[in-house]
This record gives sequence, C-alpha cells and structure tokens, in this order.
Amino acid sequence: MAMDPDDLNTERIATVFGGTGFLGRRIVKRLLERGFTVRAASRHPARVGPVFSSTARMPEAVEADILDASSIGSAIAGSQAVVNAVSLYVEQGAQTFERVHVKAAADLAAASRDGGVDRFVQISGIGSDPQSDSKYIGARGRGEEAVASAFPGAFIVRPAVMTGPDDVFLTTIVRLIRLLPVYPLFGDGGTRLQPVYVADVAEAVGRLIDGRNHKGSFTLEFGGPRIYTYKELLREIARQLGTHIRLMPVPFAAWGALAGVAELLPAAPITRNQVDLMRHDNVAAIGAPGLKELDIEPRGIEEVIRLIDRRA
Ligand SMILES: NC(=O)c1ccc[n+]([C@@H]2O[C@H](COP(=O)([O-])OP(=O)(O)OC[C@H]3O[C@@H](n4cnc5c(N)ncnc54)[C@H](OP(=O)(O)O)[C@@H]3O)[C@@H](O)[C@H]2O)c1
Repeated sequence: MAMDPDDLNTERIATVFGGTGFLGRRIVKRLLERGFTVRAASRHPARVGPVFSSTARMPEAVEADILDASSIGSAIAGSQAVVNAVSLYVEQGAQTFERVHVKAAADLAAASRDGGVDRFVQISGIGSDPQSDSKYIGARGRGEEAVASAFPGAFIVRPAVMTGPDDVFLTTIVRLIRLLPVYPLFGDGGTRLQPVYVADVAEAVGRLIDGRNHKGSFTLEFGGPRIYTYKELLREIARQLGTHIRLMPVPFAAWGALAGVAELLPAAPITRNQVDLMRHDNVAAIGAPGLKELDIEPRGIEEVIRLIDRRA
C-alpha cells in the first residue's frame, strides 16, 4: 500500500507505540503537523490529554500493551505507518529486555507487515550490538535484527543520547553540577558522546515516514553537531552555567554496583544499562546515514541547557 504524501483526500493513519514518551510524543506532534491521523498508543492513555493539551490537533489515545498481541492488532488496524518508541530501562517481572526489545518489537513489526503497513520505524540506539555482553545492549541489537527480518524495509533509527528541556540526561547533570562539590565521572570520563536534540530526531522520523528526503538507507544513526568526551561535556555545561566543576574518576565496577542497588528504588536515579552504555563511545559511525541525509541541521546543547537552567 504505497502512500502518496500529496494526496490530501486520503486519510493517512500512523500509530506511535510509546506515543506519550519523551521521544514518542514529539514524533506524534510531527506526524500531526504532517497531516496524519495519529494514534498515540501506550498503557496509560489518560496521559495523552495532558501531554498534548497545547497542540493544535490531538492524537487519538489508544490503550495498548506491546506485550499483548491482541492490543497490538487493534492499535495498528488500518495504519499506513507504525513507530515503535517503547522504552524499558529496568527489567521488572515479565518485562525483560529480551521480551520487550526483541520479542515484542518483532511481534509489532510482524503484525504491521501482515496488516499491510507501508512504513515501520524501530527506535533503537547507537551502540546496539547483538553480540554485546550487556543484557540491555545485546537485546537492543537482537531487536534490530528481529524487526528487520519481520518487516523487510523497516527503518532502524539509532539516536545518540537525546536532549530536550524535559530530558533526564542534561537535567540530571545540571542539577548535580549545582549540587555537588565534586562531580563523579564514569571511569576516567573519556567516553565520547554526541548528544542529539530530541526534536531533531522526531523531525527525522517524520520525514522518513512521509517518504521524503529518504535516500534508500534503512539503518540511520542520529547524532548531534559535536562530539565531546564525557569530561569535556561536563566542563562545557559548567562553563555555560557560569560555574566551576571539580571532576573525580570513579571506576565502572563501582558504578555497576551502585546501579544494581539503585534499581531497587521506584525511580532509579541510575541503572545498569546506563552504566553499560557509558563504557563505550556513543557516536554516529563515520559514513552512517543520519540527519544530514534527511536535510536536517542538528542543533547543539546550548539552548537546551539555557531552558533547563531557567526552570531549575
Ligand atoms: N532517551 C534517550 O536519550 C534515548 C537515546 C537513544 C535511544 N533511545 C530509545 O528511544 C526510545 C524511546 O525512549 P524514551 O526516552 O522516549 O522513552 P520514555 O520517555 O520512557 O517513553 C516510553 C514510552 O513507551 C511506553 N511504553 C512503555 N512500555 C510499554 C508497553 N509495554 N506497551 C506500550 N507502551 C509502553 C510508555 O508509556 P506507558 O508507560 O504509559 O505505557 C511511554 O509512552 C527507546 O527505545 C529508547 O531506548 C532513547
């Protein structure tokens, strides 16, 4: 079923699983702006109203659990496009990384293929690797493979760490720089990161779904305009906040132990998957198609830091 983006008489339906999340809500907004009828699917549809209260058009709130095949089926019925922006950062009961990021992702992709969906976008992450020793990173990599085999031609979108006024990443750093006399580094702080603005990723996904500016690549890596080591990033943020920062190296093993305990808390301040991700550089591969191929000029962290600092 080919989509004709210029045919205004045809209703185009897009379903975004995780449509209330940090990235998913922005993808929903971009698709609404592009004229799609959008279903924001999540386990808590009551959150849709407040999340989209300021948008010109509302998405449809759909209650669906990606672990439940029947709710997948009714959520995507009649859709031309489906996005999987579901997250799981801490395993809990039946919600394991394997179940959510591999099996459920593949189930959603297969149901989309069987339902005649034209475009499927799997949100994954830079560094996903099926061979990784990390349970999280390995599951993300196997999830990409499972989706690509269930839905040939699916887009695999791998963002770097995403920033935005309501993010966890920069907000936590800004808060801790203001709070702590000494800032603990992951290891020696040498891990390279390429923070990307969440709205740029959402715009890119909107363009992929709309079939414009797509140059035939199915795995895309989205990074921001600058690569920093973690240490450089902290110093840059402190500089923008007009403050001084003292850094202290902390071995990864200590972080792993701390995160194991922190995960027992209801809202874990640090998780083992975050520690695992910080062990390796998290930057777009040289030559990998990304925002540039979609004609998007990535924005830096400066404006986001100003917004976060103003709110703090
Ligand atoms: N944030 C980053 O910096 C970053 C960087 C790279 C990649 N990513 C990837 O980007 C994707 C989105 O991340 P995010 O940070 O936007 O996540 P998020 O803010 O935690 O949002 C997750 C969304 O998924 C929904 N959800 C969770 N479990 C579900 C289930 N079983 N069935 C249906 N919906 C479910 C949540 O709603 P309910 O809880 O109401 O169901 C929510 O709408 C993830 O794959 C993440 O790994 C994120």
